[in-house]
Amino acid sequence: MNKERKLIVAGNWKMNKTVTEATALVESLDRDLGTQTDVDVVVCPPFTALDAVSAKLRNSLIKVGAQNMSENDYGAFTGEINAGMLRDLLVHYVILGHSERREYQQESDAMVCSKTKAALAAGLKPIVCVGESLAQRDANETEAVIGGQLQGSLAGLDAEQMKGTVIAYEPVWAIGTGKTATTEQAQQVHAFIRREISKSHGNEIAQTIRIQYGGSVKPDNARELLSQPDVDGALVGGASLDAGSFSDIINNTRN
Ligand code: PGA
Repeated sequence: MNKERKLIVAGNWKMNKTVTEATALVESLDRDLGTQTDVDVVVCPPFTALDAVSAKLRNSLIKVGAQNMSENDYGAFTGEINAGMLRDLLVHYVILGHSERREYQQESDAMVCSKTKAALAAGLKPIVCVGESLAQRDANETEAVIGGQLQGSLAGLDAEQMKGTVIAYEPVWAIGTGKTATTEQAQQVHAFIRREISKSHGNEIAQTIRIQYGGSVKPDNARELLSQPDVDGALVGGASLDAGSFSDIINNTRN
C-alpha cells in the first residue's frame, strides 16, 4: 500500500493473556512478521506479561507497548506503574486515554495530557486515544467531542513532543461490537483530526503525525480502512489476541 506516512499497527490485548500465553503469541508473531519492515508493529500486553514479552522480542522489529501508566513519578501511589518502570522493561509505546479507561477509571483529558507529557519525558511514544460515543455521533457532536478531547489531551505539547506522539481515533460504538466505522466515516474524522492538529501545531506536524483507526478492525476490513489517505494504521483489540488474525491484518495492508 502506497502511503504518505509509515503505517503503525498496534495490538491492544486489554486484560487478556497469561505470561505463557503471551510469550507463545509473540513467538508466532515474530515468526510471521519479524522480518517485515513496511509496517511498524507494536504489541501491548498486560503489565504482568511485559517483561517476558519484551525479553522474547529483544532482537525483533516488533515493539512492545503498555496499555496505561501513571502520570506521577516515583512515590506513594499504590498499584500504579510509572514511565521509568516501563522503560526499564524496554517498552517503547504506551496507550493513553483509551475509552475504557476514560469510562471505567474516569480518566479526564487533563489526566491523559499529564500522562502524555510524563511518557514523552521518559522517552516513551504515547498512543493517545480519542473517540465519540454513539449518542454523541447521533447528536451530531462527533467533531465537537473529538476536538475537545484533542485540545485537552494534547494541551501544551510542543512540536518535538507532537512528533513523538501517535493519535488513535476509536469511535466508542465500534469497539468490541463488530460494528466498524465505514471507510468514509473513518476518513472524515481522521481528516478532521489532522485539520485540528494543523490549527494547533501547524501543517508540518499535522502532515507527519500518524493517526490510527481502532474499533473492530479485522483481517477482512483492514486493507480498505487503512487505504484511506488519512488513516495511518490501526489499534486492534480482539483480533490481536490471535497471531494468525493479527498478522493477517498487517499482511493485508502491505503491498
Ligand atoms: P476491538 O478493540 O478491535 O476489539 O474493537 C479496539 C480497541 O479497543 O483498541
